Amino acid sequence: MINGTPYLDTEGNVIHAHGGYIMQHEGWYYWYGEDRRDNIYVSCYKSRDLKNWQFCSHILTTETPTSHTAGKFDLRLTNPDSDKGKVNVERPKVIYNAKTGRFVLWAHWENGVNYLDARCCIASSDRPDGGFTYHGSFNPYGHMSRDCTLFTDLEGDTYFISAARDNADLHIYRLTEDFLNVDEHVRTLFQHEYREAPALFTYNGEYYMISSYCTGWAPNQAKWSKASRIDGRWTLLEDIGDETTYRSQSAFMLEKDGKIYYVGDRWGGGGEKYFTSTYVVLEVRFGADGKPYMDWCEDAGVF
Ligand code: GAL
Repeated sequence: MINGTPYLDTEGNVIHAHGGYIMQHEGWYYWYGEDRRDNIYVSCYKSRDLKNWQFCSHILTTETPTSHTAGKFDLRLTNPDSDKGKVNVERPKVIYNAKTGRFVLWAHWENGVNYLDARCCIASSDRPDGGFTYHGSFNPYGHMSRDCTLFTDLEGDTYFISAARDNADLHIYRLTEDFLNVDEHVRTLFQHEYREAPALFTYNGEYYMISSYCTGWAPNQAKWSKASRIDGRWTLLEDIGDETTYRSQSAFMLEKDGKIYYVGDRWGGGGEKYFTSTYVVLEVRFGADGKPYMDWCEDAGVF
């Protein structure tokens, strides 16, 4: 596919998986992301080759069934005061919990009127492509929580990473064994650097994070940092890509056949203001200096 153009599913419909995430499970790639049409929040597509994407279902909508976990979080998925009566669910990520056999979604939740609640929200299902139950939104240990991601490290611990203190800092929380709550706030990164859109990957036994600066829907210079432990010390931020990250903002990283790909959103690229994006997929390579870099390429390559 061509970077920055709308990608179509196998039925010829535009793929709505903005601010998303790809989970690999039993030979399939599952692509989850924001879908702001009608009463939808999150849609799911699946593919065996990253090129042919089959629509699965709208896994989170205003109608999704709800149930409390031990955390007793706020179960609201609608807001009569907002446009279309919807809340706002952004940057959904889904991972599999082998202990419970459930697929667990984490995302950013706002009330649909403004961005002042700054919460995360969770849902889970016994299958990857639908059947999700919503478990509510909350402020992890009372903190603000906006742009976010999930990441499992080489020791098998899974972390929720999100922008805190009005986006000034980035928090890392280790999840509980069932992934249905945060267990411990293990690290605060990049104080007052306003990093957003965190996307992580592993390379040569070390952890790398690409993130954007905080400029709303407008693109900016992505930066990277690395650490030998998720809860350890992270290096100073350094630039990657050009000054607008080729007019995109990081959504997630993907590893395939030993190669690493950056997947970003070009917000507004779908022609419908900023609520939709087209996708930019670029290979991340490592230079002779040992640092990651990526160059513009019109062809999305693996996609
Ligand atoms: C961006 C963020 C998006 C969305 C937007 C709203 O900075 O990465 O996910 O929240 O702000 O203005």
